[in-house]
Amino acid sequence: MKSLYGVIGSPIAHSMSPLIHNDAFLQNGMDAHYHAFHVEPDQLETAVAGMRALGINGFNVTIPHKEAIIPLLDSVDDAALQIGAVNTVVNRDGELIGYNTDGRGFVEALKEVVKLKDKHVLIIGAGGAARAILFTLALEKGVQIDICNRTVSKAEDLIREFSLERITRSITVDQAAREIQRYDVVVQTTSVGMYPKINDIPLPLKSIKQHAVFTDIIYNPIETKLLQEAKAIGAITQNGIHMFAYQAALAFEIWTGKFPDTVRMKKLVEEHLGGKTC
Ligand code: ATR
Repeated sequence: MKSLYGVIGSPIAHSMSPLIHNDAFLQNGMDAHYHAFHVEPDQLETAVAGMRALGINGFNVTIPHKEAIIPLLDSVDDAALQIGAVNTVVNRDGELIGYNTDGRGFVEALKEVVKLKDKHVLIIGAGGAARAILFTLALEKGVQIDICNRTVSKAEDLIREFSLERITRSITVDQAAREIQRYDVVVQTTSVGMYPKINDIPLPLKSIKQHAVFTDIIYNPIETKLLQEAKAIGAITQNGIHMFAYQAALAFEIWTGKFPDTVRMKKLVEEHLGGKTC
């Protein structure tokens, strides 16, 4: 019988997950289908009950349900619990188990362009995406992390909640801009620069550290203003397609035990978005 997978969220019409997962099923010779389901918050509980009743094999969870789904599941992986968000659910013999592949997806993608050991990292932002990324990055040996956020108290709260005072500090956006040359890796997690406000930049850039890596979780536009400017002054840059592909690949692995071709996934997304990668 065909296996069924999907994603629940709102909005969901423009999700690229069906594209890459259905392709990965084909590539792996699996008789499976992945579908995007538009689910509003007041229908979440019913939707999850429906997933159970229909025996859906697994599904992704996206905005705005990543936190709200937790109490509706039978169990949740420890990292996802700590992050406080689930983006992947697997149905194992009727039990719905939640995972978070966003943080690991981000770190695996980043490791393609930089060795993280003993690196000094700046995270811009302290929202949901930053949370998953901070939690996972902090597990890397020797990393030192500064977080700057428009609302400084949110960065402070995050550091306190994860007990990361030893390796992490909160700074203002102005301070981060002044001291940007200190950082080996700069991670942009806010919505600043996202379509349609593509000329916005979270902080002004002058000079940067030699061989610095700038990564942005935004993939629309494919290259944000921050990445364009960083690249122009010598940075190695990585756009949000990489994290997107890796979080999907890790979800696919949880469901099927197979790790799909992430290069192919990225290529599909790039083609779909109609541009070039950076
Ligand atoms: P996500 O789950 O995508 O991370 P979020 O939890 O709403 O979304 O977090 C959005 C992040 O983008 C936050 O760090 C937010 O800063 P605040 O905590 O100060 O709100 C940041 N952000 C959004 N719009 C911004 C703007 N115009 N200027 C600066 N930061 C912005």
